[in-house]
Amino acid sequence: MPFTQDAELELSFDAKLIPATLNERLAQHNLHIRPLASSDYHRGHIHVLASLTSVQDPGEDRWKERFNELAQSTTSASKYFVVVIVSKHSDKLVATGTVFLEPKFLRNLASAAHIEDIAVDHTMQGKGLGKVLIQALTTLSEAQGAYKTLLDCNDDNVPFYNKCGYETKGVYMAKYK
Ligand SMILES: CC(C)(COP(=O)(O)OP(=O)(O)OC[C@H]1O[C@@H](n2cnc3c(N)ncnc32)[C@H](O)[C@@H]1OP(=O)(O)O)[C@@H](O)C(=O)NCCC(=O)NCCS
Repeated sequence: MPFTQDAELELSFDAKLIPATLNERLAQHNLHIRPLASSDYHRGHIHVLASLTSVQDPGEDRWKERFNELAQSTTSASKYFVVVIVSKHSDKLVATGTVFLEPKFLRNLASAAHIEDIAVDHTMQGKGLGKVLIQALTTLSEAQGAYKTLLDCNDDNVPFYNKCGYETKGVYMAKYK
């Protein structure tokens, strides 16, 4: 499939929020980073997420409903930004990641940011794409005024996040239903 330019897509947020330098770096590998687009269901968005965890295909209509909810959130206090890396060769997604802004009452109504759902297709891991995703999401959250950017991960991924400039802080706890 020929590569689809950003101008031909319905993007979930303004692509200018992603540093142009990241695309300059990815261009030499025939890759492109951009916001999630409304047609990315057909570019394998669910397939890429399967590198992270078990996912069920919700079907295009329900995927599109979720896309619209997230795209509309960028005008509210609690914003979601989903970033993807596309292969220019196949026009398929090879990586994705999310950052969302949590509005607070403290620190003069500041926001904290949370990075979630980082996934690089298993055939593309170890080529620096994860690092590019984290750089894009961290830049985005800081540009949106977040005073801190948080994430949780398993022990195996700590060295990766250390390489991205993140450090272990506190203890993460969870209660699954
Ligand atoms: C974890 C993941 C996002 C890393 O992405 P990636 O594209 O493979 O990693 P990168 O190539 O960008 O690696 C960046 C740096 O981290 C290092 N690194 C990556 N994973 C590592 C690991 N598990 N242990 C030690 N170092 C690691 C790389 O060697 C590289 O170091 P360098 O900058 O000195 O060259 C990716 O492997 C992935 O999607 N895994 C499955 C899903 C997952 O676990 N997601 C994270 C959930 S918290």
